[in-house]
Amino acid sequence: MHVLVTGGAGFIGRRLCSALLARGNRVRVIDNFDDAYDPELKHVPEGVELIRGDCCDPAAVRLALDGVDAVAHLAARAGVRESIADPEAYGRNNVGATITLLHAMREAGIRRMVFASSSSVYGAAGGPFRECDPADRPASPYAASKRAAELFCVSSGLDVSACRLFTVYGPGQRPGMAIAKFARAIFANKPVTVYGDGSSLRDYTYVDDAVRGLVAAMDRARGYNVYNIGCGQPIPLTEVLAALSDATRKRLKVNYSAPQPGDVPLTHADITLAREQLGWAPAVSFREGIARYLASL
Ligand SMILES: NC(=O)c1ccc[n+]([C@@H]2O[C@H](COP(=O)([O-])OP(=O)(O)OC[C@H]3O[C@@H](n4cnc5c(N)ncnc54)[C@H](O)[C@@H]3O)[C@@H](O)[C@H]2O)c1
Repeated sequence: MHVLVTGGAGFIGRRLCSALLARGNRVRVIDNFDDAYDPELKHVPEGVELIRGDCCDPAAVRLALDGVDAVAHLAARAGVRESIADPEAYGRNNVGATITLLHAMREAGIRRMVFASSSSVYGAAGGPFRECDPADRPASPYAASKRAAELFCVSSGLDVSACRLFTVYGPGQRPGMAIAKFARAIFANKPVTVYGDGSSLRDYTYVDDAVRGLVAAMDRARGYNVYNIGCGQPIPLTEVLAALSDATRKRLKVNYSAPQPGDVPLTHADITLAREQLGWAPAVSFREGIARYLASL
């Protein structure tokens, strides 16, 4: 099978490329190496064919789709807080690029896609979130862009699995993500800044678990379906800090700051559907994932 991974030079994308190569797939990436964070941190694994191009550019997308059997669509601006400062970039890269890609897929007769959606589409509702729950109150432009992109996937009539990923972490993660920022502060013996009082809960997903979910959802894409890809166990920020402190044997100095706009108090995945329909389940515990992440630094 020949797979196009959009955004394949990014954190989750390049891990996905490695998993696809390992099972014998031919892999092509289209990535524009945007400056949402240092582009020097982005790369693709050896053996991947790389097209430096933008998914908003129909000609580049047509080229990238040539000879492809399936698409893993990860190209997007990620990050809730940054989306409040620049909603237009999120509309263009997350919605516009998805529309361009879906249209080009239809024209090329390519039907199968897995789409990297986000738990943020559930907004600030209480969990555990199920795929059939309302997702019409996004709390940030990022969340709105992911929900809008999902709806364009529905309207395409293609075989699309939308995976709502729950806070993915692990080796190579984006430098702006909380765990990466905390780890940098710990190793620099600097205080850690926590937004809110530390009681917020996140359902953290180790990157290789997320990748297995994306692959399973791509393989089984038939019609339009949504899957929560999370651990099903929300973890308080205080436990994140404790895990980092225990693993590094360093005491943490914590500065508390006001909660940030767009942040939600809880994410919590009900993963029954992914278990039943994809035969998928997370395998890496949070403490194990943190140990693997720290070992990668
Ligand atoms: N990391 C998480 O916790 C998480 C959670 C939920 C959903 N997601 C989604 O998973 C996907 C991957 O996230 P990530 O954490 O690896 O982010 P990332 O920023 O590391 O990767 C995204 C990649 O897409 C590329 N890109 C952006 N716009 C593009 C465009 N128009 N054309 C071509 N390439 C473009 C970027 O250069 C980058 O390499 C994103 O769609 C993100 O919204 C991530």
